[in-house]
Parts: sequence; C-alpha cells; structure tokens
Amino acid sequence: MLRRLLVQASTHHRRCLFTPRPASAYRRCSSSSSPSQMGTSTFVDRLDGPNESTPPPPTGISVDRSGLYNPPEHSHEPSSDSELVKHLKGIIKFRGGPISVAEYMEEVLTNPKAGFYINRDVFGAEGDFITSPEVSQMFGEMVGVWAMCLWEQMGQPNKVNLIELGPGRGTLMADLLRGASKFKNFTESLHIHMVECSPTLQKLQYSHLKCIDEDNSDMNVEKRTISTLSRNPVSWHATLEQVPTGLPTIIIAHEFYDALPVHQFQRAARGWCEKMVDVGEDSSFHFVLSPQPTPATLFLMKRYKWAATEEIAKLDQIEVCPRAMELTQTIAKRISSDGGGALIIDYGFNGVVSDSLQAIRKHKFVDILDNPGTADLSAYVDFASVRHSAEEVSDVSVYGPITQSQFLGSLGINFRVEALLENCTDEQAESLRTGYWRLVGDGEAPFWEGPDDQVPIGMGTRYLAMTIVNKKQGIPIPFQ
Ligand SMILES: C[S@@+](CC[C@H](N)C(=O)[O-])C[C@H]1O[C@@H](n2cnc3c(N)ncnc32)[C@H](O)[C@@H]1O
Repeated sequence: MLRRLLVQASTHHRRCLFTPRPASAYRRCSSSSSPSQMGTSTFVDRLDGPNESTPPPPTGISVDRSGLYNPPEHSHEPSSDSELVKHLKGIIKFRGGPISVAEYMEEVLTNPKAGFYINRDVFGAEGDFITSPEVSQMFGEMVGVWAMCLWEQMGQPNKVNLIELGPGRGTLMADLLRGASKFKNFTESLHIHMVECSPTLQKLQYSHLKCIDEDNSDMNVEKRTISTLSRNPVSWHATLEQVPTGLPTIIIAHEFYDALPVHQFQRAARGWCEKMVDVGEDSSFHFVLSPQPTPATLFLMKRYKWAATEEIAKLDQIEVCPRAMELTQTIAKRISSDGGGALIIDYGFNGVVSDSLQAIRKHKFVDILDNPGTADLSAYVDFASVRHSAEEVSDVSVYGPITQSQFLGSLGINFRVEALLENCTDEQAESLRTGYWRLVGDGEAPFWEGPDDQVPIGMGTRYLAMTIVNKKQGIPIPFQ
C-alpha cells in the first residue's frame, strides 16, 4: 500500500538540507562574522580583552576563570511573549544569568507544557519537516529486514523487546510490522516499547499501530495494549530507563539523536568559552559567551581526548552532546546485559561537529532564537562520539557509520522498489521513484522533469547508519 503523502512530500524537505540553507542559519556566531553579517539575533560577546578572535594554540583547554557575570536588568512590563518565552526568560532571570544552548534547546523542544514536540503533529507537508519513514513505506520495511536479520543472529529468541526511541507518528514501526507480517516467528516474539515524550505523538502512534486496549478486567491480569497490525503488546515510556530489562533487545533510533540538546563552545583568545543564551535590555534573546568554565566543559574535554589534534585545530566552534554520550552508554549497557543490538540512523558526521544547530519552521530555516517553541531545533550527530561512548562499555561492538544509501541498498531496497513498481498506478510509480531517490540518492534527481523548485534531493549520503551489538551476535548485516 502506498501513501499519497509521497506526492505531497516531494516539495518539502526535512532537516537534511534539501534546500540551500540561508547564511543567517549558518555562521551567525562564527568569530569571523561582523555584526552586520549576523542574523536577527545578535551575537554579543560580553567578554573583555583585546583581540578575542585570535585563536590560542590548539592543544589543551584554557578558560578564563576571572570575572563574574552581571545579569542584565529585565523588563517587568506586560508583554505578548508566549508561555515558553516567558518561561525561558524566567529561568534566565531567576538563575541570575544566561542559560546554555543545551538548556535552551531542551526547553524549546520538550518543555512539558509548551515544547515544540509536545502538543502537535509537526511532520509532513502540513507540519514543519518530513522524515524518511514519512517519505516512503520502504524505509520502515528495510529497517524491519535489518531487525529480522539481527533477530536471526540472536538465535531467534521467542521474546524480544523491540524499542523505538522518538517514534514520531509511529510510521516506521507500522511499516516494519506490516512488512514483516509474513514472518510470524519474528513478529510474534516482539514486545514493542515506544520511548516518546510527547502525549500528542503517543496518541498518533497508538492510532497508526491500530492499537486496542484489551479488556482483562475479569481475568485479574494487567491491562494490555495490543497493536492489531500483528497482535503485539505495545507500551509507552518517557525514557529508555523506564523500559523493563531482562529480554533480548532490539533498539531503533531514527532521527532521535539529532533532537538531543547540544552545548556549543567557541574559541576565544583565552580558550574555549561556552555559548549561552541571554535576554537583552530590549527583551530579546541573544548569545553571549560564558566568562568562566561551565559544567559542560568536562564533556568538551572528554570529546577533545577522542579527537586528533589536527581535527580540533581547524575549528573555531565545537558542539558536544552529553545527552548523546549518556544515552549511548545506557543503550550499550542494556545490549551488553540483555543481548541484541541497536540501530542509529541520523544525519551527522563521523567526527567532531562544529556549528550545526539549526531551526526549521514550516519547511524553512529560521533563526534559532526566533519565537522559540514554534520551530524545530536539531543538530548534526557526532557519530565518532557515539562510537567512543559505546566502546567504554564491555561486551559490545560498534559498526559503521555507513551511509543510508549503503544501508538500504544492501538490505535490498532496489528489489523492493521494483516489486512495488510492478503493480501500481502512474501516480504511485512517480511517488515511488521520487521517494526511492530521496532515501538513497545523492543530490538532485537526474530523472526529474517537474518544476525546478520541487526537484527531489537525495539524502542517501547525508544520513548515516551505525549499530551497537552484543559481541555474541557477530557482525550484523549489512555492516560486514
Ligand atoms: C525528529 S523526530 C523523529 C521522529 C521519527 N523517528 C521519524 O523519523 O519520523 C524526534 C522524535 O523524538 C521525540 N523526542 C524528542 N526528544 C525526546 C526526548 N528527550 N525523550 C523522548 N522523546 C523525544 C519527539 O517527540 C519525536 O517523536
């Protein structure tokens, strides 16, 4: 069954930079930018000292410990600020100083009352961005093939925890279950766990998995929710830690890591300083540099140790994601003790990430500080850091990253698209071709004959896949 969304989706792109990114969304804070080159949120360097832009020697981290930060006076006049903006300003005011970019990002995305993900469906043509599972059913089906192959390598256990982190609309999981429905031994083994912070998206997932609540009231057993797609029990959790342990486990994280809050550091004459978000006298948000080391500096130092000197030497900015490091260790420990493996697919680099944080509203890049809570914030995933974090845990192996194109190609997406093309309408065939290109292609689709501004752009090389597996299983397909 083909989703019509494929056609609608062809003009809209997810955070994979299908459309050229406006300069204001990129280098607003680079030390070489003059104020006139900056975006609408002005970068204010409150640090004193001559020539802040002169880079220090690249080795080691030195941060000025002198000087206390003076919080600005905040206006108490009534304003038209949204609840989230008021909340952010309140934190800054009562903290007596700016907050980290990571804290800002976390509040903007997942604040329980007004976070971007919390109260609405942000996906698809009507939303803010589109993701691979929403582009084509083939994506979830291929992830299902991967999960089934891993399950075979795990010895075909008859009970497995299948955990998805950040399942969005639940489309990937629904396509995985439909695609695998003929392989009863596999599907019957699955206990599905959705790790999702958004109550609105939890409801959408419930509906896309065609869930029902079993009425066990007269049997004196716990009430269960079942997906009627394959009769698997499904449960929801706010964090991975809340998912019960003790069963062999398969974890899928598609575009979950990029939503985890990043700390941003900028090189100044006196060393690396953390970029913070403050409120100015005009009551708008802007960036400032921390005058002294922040707690996140410890994670910068950790990341420094994993990098080659020359890799860091060329950078003026570095992003670190302690939450990604911690999450990876939680995943790796679970895989180490329960067996199984995890698949992480996201856009990013196999190395230190410099300045990637971006905001997208209604399929357009916007300023990170503009009307927080109404635009998605995401950052490139540092896959090298994920690898190093996992490798600190015993009994697990890490493979990849490989490109999404290699991953889907090796799992047989070409055969799948051919099979679907054999039995479809012309309109569906066009959707299939553009969807296929988006998933595995690189750059503009060469076959496109439609309007220039709707040309499908491939994300096959921008997106990377990595796996963390229990050593017992050997190397999973297709990472050999
Ligand atoms: C970019 S969307 C990706 C959705 C889906 N995986 C897809 O590819 O369509 C991120 C998802 O992670 C969820 N999410 C983000 N941060 C989270 C957190 N800290 N805890 C739990 N879920 C989170 C969001 O609500 C959303 O479902």
